[in-house]
Amino acid sequence: MDTRWQHTTVLLNEAVDALLAQDPGAPPRAGTFVDATFGRGGHSRLILSRLGPGGRLIAFDKDLEAVAEAARITDARFSIRHAGFREIASLPRGGIAGVLMDLGISSPQIDNPARGFSFRGDGPLDMRMDTTRGETVASWLAHADAAQIAEVIRDYGEERFAVPIAKAIVARRQERGPLATTAELAELVARTVKTREPGQDPATRTFQALRIFINAELEELQEALEASLDILQPQGRLVAISFHSLEDRIVKQFIATHSREVYDRRAPFAAPRALRLKSLGRVKPSAAEVAANARARSAIMRVAERTPA
Ligand SMILES: C[S@@+](CC[C@H](N)C(=O)[O-])C[C@H]1O[C@@H](n2cnc3c(N)ncnc32)[C@H](O)[C@@H]1O
Repeated sequence: MDTRWQHTTVLLNEAVDALLAQDPGAPPRAGTFVDATFGRGGHSRLILSRLGPGGRLIAFDKDLEAVAEAARITDARFSIRHAGFREIASLPRGGIAGVLMDLGISSPQIDNPARGFSFRGDGPLDMRMDTTRGETVASWLAHADAAQIAEVIRDYGEERFAVPIAKAIVARRQERGPLATTAELAELVARTVKTREPGQDPATRTFQALRIFINAELEELQEALEASLDILQPQGRLVAISFHSLEDRIVKQFIATHSREVYDRRAPFAAPRALRLKSLGRVKPSAAEVAANARARSAIMRVAERTPA
């Protein structure tokens, strides 16, 4: 286990209090909970410390390094699955007391240049969370056409210069062969993006976009949210922490859709379709947390409760 790469958990107490539906110091909780994004286990360890002997925690992570870290937890109430969190759909229907999703990448993933997530430092242009399957960014950029690349960079990076960046990637591929490293991509973007946002590396948006695309992050989030409705028991909690607006929009709309009473226009006097969630609002990190951990700056946690319907 490489201890150079540490992760500081964001909204640690807030998320666990919300998930367990209890204040700190309350008696231990019973029930089966899910940590859909184990990472380095900050949330998982606190959850376990507040579960009673009959409690269970099932964790998921796509990343083998996260799974290796989880193997260090020797608590019979805990288990880890090396899988995308859409696999929560395989858990017993109505059998889960709470699902936590702390989305995106962990600090160990971004800080280790060998994983290819960062424009700082140099490494292979990989960006897969699960290195045992799927296509790397380098491989995809070697065959995708300019229109596909531009669409990804525009839609997932909200990058104004998506078209010139995509054209530059394809031109470079034709002239000198495909991009292989993070530094090559970062330099190409820096040469192509003319105006820079203050305090932001010109490659930030492009790297974010490619990472979201190659890991199918938004599709898997949508699927896992849908699955949570089936597996949560009445009053079970859904807690999701997002780090950028695309993720947060999906979580927000999902909760809003299922918290709204739906009337059938063809049967205006019929009772509205039963709600499946009750929104319990959103929480942002305190100023003290943001001062101590810059990564917390963009975090938004949304909480909802499964209704009996
Ligand atoms: C922000 S970190 C979680 C940190 C964790 N809460 C902690 O305190 O250490 C996100 C983790 O979720 C994993 N992950 C992201 N998307 C995933 C998905 N769709 N399925 C499974 N794991 C995912 C990443 O590999 C990463 O380890």
